[in-house]
Amino acid sequence: MSGASKPGVRQIIQRARELGVGIPAFNVAHLPMTEPIIRAVRDQDSFALVEVSRIDWVKFGAESPEAVMIEYRIHEDPRHVRLHLDHVPAVDEDQNKVDYRAIITEALELGYDSVMIDASRLSLEENIRVTREVAELARRTGAPVEAELGAVLGHEKGPLPPYEELFRTGRGFTREDEAVRFARESGCDWLSVAIGNIHGAVGEATKDQKKVEAHLALDHLKKLAEVTRLPLVLHGGSGIRQSDMLASMKHGIVKVNVGTEIRQAYEQVLKAGGSVAEAQEATYARTSSLIKEWFQLSGVRARLTS
Ligand code: G3H
Ligand code: ZN
Repeated sequence: MSGASKPGVRQIIQRARELGVGIPAFNVAHLPMTEPIIRAVRDQDSFALVEVSRIDWVKFGAESPEAVMIEYRIHEDPRHVRLHLDHVPAVDEDQNKVDYRAIITEALELGYDSVMIDASRLSLEENIRVTREVAELARRTGAPVEAELGAVLGHEKGPLPPYEELFRTGRGFTREDEAVRFARESGCDWLSVAIGNIHGAVGEATKDQKKVEAHLALDHLKKLAEVTRLPLVLHGGSGIRQSDMLASMKHGIVKVNVGTEIRQAYEQVLKAGGSVAEAQEATYARTSSLIKEWFQLSGVRARLTS
């Protein structure tokens, strides 16, 4: 289905902010997940972003930004979804430099509605410089740019200290003073912050593990929202304590990324000998219940897109 006068994702995020609602963004880790994700959002009369990150095509089965766009175009419904390019790192989780310009330029040309540059593994200065460069690139199409400040840990190889220790010490948390400067100088439209959220593991030996229940430093989030005045993004959405996740939407979070939960639902079926169609139904069921029970966003579409 095509949408002649569809509201842009920039406006929809702005509307979410006014309503105190956080829009889910579901990662397509495997191409066949695209269809059931969109179907679930539509059946719940909700709204979501469908997204793909570089990890999804390098480590899992999303193939490429182009392949996801082709699949998305087959199933898209502009009343309910937009397509976002998630994490394109300047330096990846294995410490390799990435040609982020080429990937983001390609995605913009393909027609992605919004893009993310993740230069959070660089210094503050470099993160600002790289994000500015991408903001310039995106100006050509008007696509909003998401950036990350602080470190949402979990994608990197190697063991992390226990979660509660990470939380207590605030390791990787977005700093207020840096956030002020980043908001002023980077040119980003949306900002991913680290406030206790962590990513699900993606390594071969750890990708099937159940995530710990993360919780959020809500007072810190409030300060970041106040000083940046930007729409804020919560990564590592799988398995966050529900009450904290819902509260975060009242304090500046407008987009919540969910990857591991629906990827594992899909992969577990295949691992048990099920078919792709059965794995798609597991994705549909998990996505539906996340929208309905966890995000409590059934029926939200009309309020967000009007
Ligand atoms: O960018 C992707 C997300 O942050 C997904 O995180 O896999 O922990 O849900 P998750
Ligand atoms: Zn993420």
